[in-house]
Amino acid sequence: MPLAFMSQKSILSMIFFVCLQVQQYLEPFQLSEANLRDVSARLSKDLDLGLGKNTHHRAAVKMLPTFVRATPDGTEKGDFLALDLGGTNFRVLHVRVVEEEQKVLKMDSQICAIPKEMMLGTGEQLFDHIAACLGDFLISQNLKGQTLPLGFTFSFPCEQKEIDKSILIRWTKGFNCSGVEGKDVVKLLKEAIRRRGDYDIGSVAMVNDTVGTMMSCGYKDQSCEIGMIIGTGTNACYMEEMRNVRRVEGEDGRMCINTEWGGFGDDGSLKDIQTEFDVVVDKTSINPGVHIFEKMISGMYLGEIVRLLLVRLAENKLLFKGQTSEALRTPGTFETKQVSGLENTQIILTKLGLKWNSVDCGVVRLVCDTISSRSADLCAAALATITNRIRTNRKLARLKTTVGVDGTVYRKHPKFSEKLRATVRRLAPECDITFLVSEDGSGKGAAMVTAVALRLAHQSRLLEDSDGEVREEEKDK
Ligand code: GLC
Repeated sequence: MPLAFMSQKSILSMIFFVCLQVQQYLEPFQLSEANLRDVSARLSKDLDLGLGKNTHHRAAVKMLPTFVRATPDGTEKGDFLALDLGGTNFRVLHVRVVEEEQKVLKMDSQICAIPKEMMLGTGEQLFDHIAACLGDFLISQNLKGQTLPLGFTFSFPCEQKEIDKSILIRWTKGFNCSGVEGKDVVKLLKEAIRRRGDYDIGSVAMVNDTVGTMMSCGYKDQSCEIGMIIGTGTNACYMEEMRNVRRVEGEDGRMCINTEWGGFGDDGSLKDIQTEFDVVVDKTSINPGVHIFEKMISGMYLGEIVRLLLVRLAENKLLFKGQTSEALRTPGTFETKQVSGLENTQIILTKLGLKWNSVDCGVVRLVCDTISSRSADLCAAALATITNRIRTNRKLARLKTTVGVDGTVYRKHPKFSEKLRATVRRLAPECDITFLVSEDGSGKGAAMVTAVALRLAHQSRLLEDSDGEVREEEKDK
């Protein structure tokens, strides 16, 4: 009988019946609390491997030292430039840090699109484009002629040697420019600026977006010691005890570690929870075998997982009366913003050229909710691993901490943050976590890192000077 002639009750019972069958396909995505605890225990071991002096080079979770040793103390100030590359757009910002008000102000910013071909072109083209955008911005802001310090948020895994020396380990997300992996990104930027020869920049601080996010929240809330991104990609950083950072000299204090948790599973450790659909998403991506955890969680991949599932359900006659469409069979046509339910399901299905009824709509929503719930649960397991680690590091019975968060999936998905928080509470019951959504974290945070680095350099110069004075006085005696 056509649905139009069925009563609401019959439609509901039909949805229920179909959902029961669909459930078989969704089950592998529904991780139990025991599964999540197990994932967390595996990640915890991987964090140790990444930090270890003799194990880090083959660790899946890279645990990269950032050379950020301090969070803001509220005395930073000045004008900065910030660049932000790694999400959906490239941005240039002029940022002012105002000490009296403990505020980081975005004076102005400009978005420059990076064409898809450029994301896969040569490194020289990419950096020339960045330098050109920065040049245009300086003119528009009347800043040409000034040499402002610059924070560069570069959201890819980098082996940082110093705050201004950062070697790209590998591209992730949609980028794959030639001649950049294994090179110092600051040098490539400076060379591109030199090639132009019409402006200059001051000292540079390289920052991962997680670090920028943590630092931008840290000015407001000094207990912010974790930064987390759930957007195009996913990752987190946190303040680790120096004594555990075996690859960097020194035992005292803390250093921010960029975990690159997106790489969790790259050594096969998540094979048992990867579904056949995750395997296809990985195999058909531009970087197979890389960032397995990220591919189960982040915005760049959620839509594709859903699309593959919908195709399978249609093939098995559980959707769209067994019909698919050209668009549904084309990779990349189901976007993550559609997974989040922000767009009307009926409009999406029509746009995809599908013939649907209300039962289909119900099933599509169920699929989308299941995939985004798994993403939130996996992120929660990873975050709980970090908060539990910080608590154990500090031998605390309870940890009170703040996480700075950013990324479109976290910000825009209506149920994501709630689900994530509920799962973290279950997995890390001894941690009281406040979530602070960072406003413009990558931009303002990069400026903040630069400001903190300048403050520390200034303080150590003052210290050296006063040491000098003491020595001079001793000589006089
Ligand atoms: C990818 C990058 C990582 C970044 C994350 C979020 O995982 O490798 O550096 O922090 O995306 O943008």
